[in-house]
Amino acid sequence: MSEHVPNTSKQHPPITMSAPDIDASDLKAVEETLRSGILGLGPCARGFEEAVAERCGVKHAITLSSGTSALHLAVRGLGIGDGDEVLVPSFTFAASVNAILYERATPVFVDIEPETLNLSVEDCERRITPKTRAIMVVDVFGHPADWDGLEALARKHDLLLIDDCCEAIGSEYRGRPLGSLGNAGAFAFYPNKQITTGEGGMLVTDDDDLATLARSLRNQGRDAMGAWLDHPRLGFNYRMDELSAALGLSQFRRLDAFMERRAHVASLYTERLAQLPRVEAPTVQDHVKMSWFVYVVRLAEGLDRDPVMQKMEQRGIPVRGYFQPVHELTYARKYINSSTSGLPTTEAMARRTVAIPFHNHLSEAAVDRVVEVLAEVLDES
Ligand SMILES: Cc1ncc(COP(=O)(O)O)c(C=O)c1O
Repeated sequence: MSEHVPNTSKQHPPITMSAPDIDASDLKAVEETLRSGILGLGPCARGFEEAVAERCGVKHAITLSSGTSALHLAVRGLGIGDGDEVLVPSFTFAASVNAILYERATPVFVDIEPETLNLSVEDCERRITPKTRAIMVVDVFGHPADWDGLEALARKHDLLLIDDCCEAIGSEYRGRPLGSLGNAGAFAFYPNKQITTGEGGMLVTDDDDLATLARSLRNQGRDAMGAWLDHPRLGFNYRMDELSAALGLSQFRRLDAFMERRAHVASLYTERLAQLPRVEAPTVQDHVKMSWFVYVVRLAEGLDRDPVMQKMEQRGIPVRGYFQPVHELTYARKYINSSTSGLPTTEAMARRTVAIPFHNHLSEAAVDRVVEVLAEVLDES
């Protein structure tokens, strides 16, 4: 018997880690666009940009090929480069760090708060040097970082704030939508995200100069108003196509319904997990409106996530070790020279945090099944 065949006599429908929520309105939007013949930089991209800008309360939203390209253009467009240090949590997805490395700036890793798993403002302050230009803030798993603390720190030390809110579209911090905080924000629309475009991302900002530059850089360095055939600067092809934008706009119109559904699934998990003494459910701070990206549980101190995850997979429950700290990834040894010491909370949490299956259509029976298997596995651990 293969090790991936569930070790149970009962048959259970397969449970997936994540799943996009595609309905007839999405199919119609994509089909209409396909039939329109306008497949690049057209009305869907503009409509999607306007809708996101309006909801976030920002002047500019720029559709892009990915969340990574949004982060890259934020770093490039804000003039961060050689010799600059950027504070960034190691408890994140590699893209937050890569955007800094692409511009030959130096990522300086910062430890996290145990409650929210977001970067620690105190640790940020400790690591500021005369070379520090910016903080790459990450709103981990959809939960906003400590923005009051970060904004105060940025004012005090004259730092730029880039918000990697790739996991947090729809979340709010004290009534302020993510995407409107800091100098620029980046959203991502990969199929595991709250809303999807297939591949895609968006840069949001109030900064007119950054927006103009980002629109040029995404389009091979062409100027919006200039002659189409001239390229005044070196740029990239970071454009989002119209099919993706049509899907994105259609999905974005249902964001509130998606957030409600995800909050419901999260509440089912939280209720069930209260019965497992060796598992902590994620917490959401009172001043936060949470757009759930993934549901990440924390195993009790002393438990190691790797064997637990392996046993869950063997029983047919997909899980992910979110996050693997970036400073521990193989490539980091080659590219990151700055100190990676003093990240005790990052390292401790990364041994205990496990993302369990989570999406809009996860049924109550599936939630029960995941919790049942987790309980069985923990009983054996
Ligand atoms: C925190 C964070 N930053 C950046 C990204 C990059 O987004 P993309 O995969 O669209 O490039 C992701 C996506 O997984 C993410 O979770």
